[in-house]
Amino acid sequence: MENMIEVRSVNKTFGKKGSVKTQVLNGAELTVQKGEFVSLMGASGSGKSTLLYLIGGLDRDFTGDIRLCGKSISKMKEKELSKIRLGKIGFIFQFYNLVQNLNVEDNILLPSLVAGRSRASLKKELDEILEITGLTEKRKFMPSKLSGGQQQRVAIARAIISNPEIILADEATGNLDSKSGAEIMELFRRINQEKGITILQVTHSQKCAMYGTRTVVLENGRTVNVDADMHVSGGNSGYGSGSGDAAASIKSMREKIMNMNLASAGARS
Ligand SMILES: Nc1ncnc2c1ncn2[C@@H]1O[C@H](COP(=O)(O)OP(=O)(O)OP(=O)(O)O)[C@@H](O)[C@H]1O
Ligand SMILES: [Mg+2]
Repeated sequence: MENMIEVRSVNKTFGKKGSVKTQVLNGAELTVQKGEFVSLMGASGSGKSTLLYLIGGLDRDFTGDIRLCGKSISKMKEKELSKIRLGKIGFIFQFYNLVQNLNVEDNILLPSLVAGRSRASLKKELDEILEITGLTEKRKFMPSKLSGGQQQRVAIARAIISNPEIILADEATGNLDSKSGAEIMELFRRINQEKGITILQVTHSQKCAMYGTRTVVLENGRTVNVDADMHVSGGNSGYGSGSGDAAASIKSMREKIMNMNLASAGARS
């Protein structure tokens, strides 16, 4: 299997020299293979967004190695990284980031137009994506005339129209009611299965996490893999060797995951 995302021994510290420093990531490890749909969970402030930004090349100030499609981003020039960001990665941010004075269509097309595509060449794809995201009727609306869920769908349409290989989503359903959230998750599942797009989503919701094929939990700056049969395996050696604290947190995380699997199994049957 091809590795789409590889995070190796990544450390990230915020704070300038001389000021208070916050070490957010401390030896983080993560591998996402082509076609996977991985959910990244963890407490508020545990570094989920930070990790997503590093993977997307939006913040290059870290130590360790991050590879996208086998290529180390630390070694890329800014121009090469921008090209990958535009061509291969679709970002979905928590607060939509729509351009308020552009209508739905233009918001969706903007990154592709910036990347040099012509409006005419995008027409077919645009119609298809509006259909998939249920926005056909709203195509001429301004963002301020849309509900939160509809705005989120515009952000998703914008991320998928360029046919990215990877979607990085930060709390895509964070501001939505559970019905709209479930619709977005169904949409993710479809684009993952039908278009084969690899997805890495940050979520606080166990229900949303269950739409993915695998869950990874970020804790104390490190990742803990939670595989399908609910065993928790150390993302790196720090956990395997098990200090009391780590062992206890793995136990509590395993219980949480057990509960979420049961809850989801109930919801699906
Ligand atoms: N630009 C910054 N400068 C200083 N500290 C920062 C900066 N960005 C994030 N942090 C700190 O890094 C830590 C991780 O933040 P991050 O946004 O990655 O958390 P998160 O896991 O996404 O949380 P949430 O679930 O609340 O979105 C926090 O303690 C935060 O205060
Ligand atoms: Mg966050």
